[in-house]
Amino acid sequence: MLAVGVESPTNIALIKYWGKHPKYEHLLVPTKSSVSFTIAGLHAKTLLKVESGKGEIEFHLNGKKIKETQSEFDYVRNFFDNISRSYKFTKDYRYEISSQNDFPTASGFASSAAGFSALAVAFAKAMTKLGNLPHLNERQLSVLARLGSGSAARSVPSRGGLVIWHRGFDNACSETEASDFSYAETLYEPSYFSDLAVIYAKVESEQEKKTKSRAGMRESVRSVYDYWQWVDYEEKVLLPAILAAVREKNWGEMFRLTKQASNNFHAVCWRTDPPIIYLNDKSTEIMSTIQPLGYAAYTFDAGPNAVVFALRRNSEEVEERLKSIVGKENTYRTEVGGGPKDVEL
Ligand code: DP6
Repeated sequence: MLAVGVESPTNIALIKYWGKHPKYEHLLVPTKSSVSFTIAGLHAKTLLKVESGKGEIEFHLNGKKIKETQSEFDYVRNFFDNISRSYKFTKDYRYEISSQNDFPTASGFASSAAGFSALAVAFAKAMTKLGNLPHLNERQLSVLARLGSGSAARSVPSRGGLVIWHRGFDNACSETEASDFSYAETLYEPSYFSDLAVIYAKVESEQEKKTKSRAGMRESVRSVYDYWQWVDYEEKVLLPAILAAVREKNWGEMFRLTKQASNNFHAVCWRTDPPIIYLNDKSTEIMSTIQPLGYAAYTFDAGPNAVVFALRRNSEEVEERLKSIVGKENTYRTEVGGGPKDVEL
């Protein structure tokens, strides 16, 4: 038996991924490019054990065995089915996966990005050791992670920092090209963002059963009447504008555009039929508190918790404002961080 361990960070998107291209949905190729910050201090540790078998999977998440009927198991099974299309030897082994999310409770965070990025990197490492794969480069690793969960592609680059995930397709390309060109890479390392802090604000939610990203984005692509206009605007206008602001270290502009991108994304969710409403009253209170500040931005994913970026020199004040909304125990301050690391077993 061979065992490998990898620790991988989570990431939070400034320009969101929300939708798979209908032609390449099974390959998790997105409709548009997205951009994220890699986050320090929020990571998943994954231990992968591999031995001869017939593709069997045993999966433990945070110390609990996940049953084959649970949706988390489905995601993992899908990942192995997806990679076995390119790598036939995948089905010649049995896998035991133990993944631990080291997310501070105060962050209110749960994400598949860190977990799948760690699993993909661990899988590649194991298969290289077993002589089935050559050493994969970061681009290939991020394609592999994408086959588990789209946003995981952005947690793979080892330098972390600000990462772009290129959508990769054009209308004339083949399936293999669409997949190979849809990868993530670091644009700026964490040290470039030493002026910035990242603050998580956990919003207590009554709503237990929220719409999962995978199902939600499918509904948005299907039913939002101007979905492709939004995609076009983000790809051609908003994303280049955010990158220009980062290049100039014009943080005020980066914050303004980040808020706009988060709002546009949630507007798409609202206009989905039936509507998907991830934000609650506390989330909108955070929005109206942070919106007027030129030195901070909020962003929300598929849930009510906020992630706030702020100038480091204003970050204590911003955190205090957030505490007054979500409670003293419910914020967590961190910074932009690096990529995955090997874990000693
Ligand atoms: C709102 O990566 O979880 O966080 O590819 O179906 O696994 P799948 O979806 P997932 O979606 C993340 C959506 C988001 C925005 C983002 O991270 O860009």
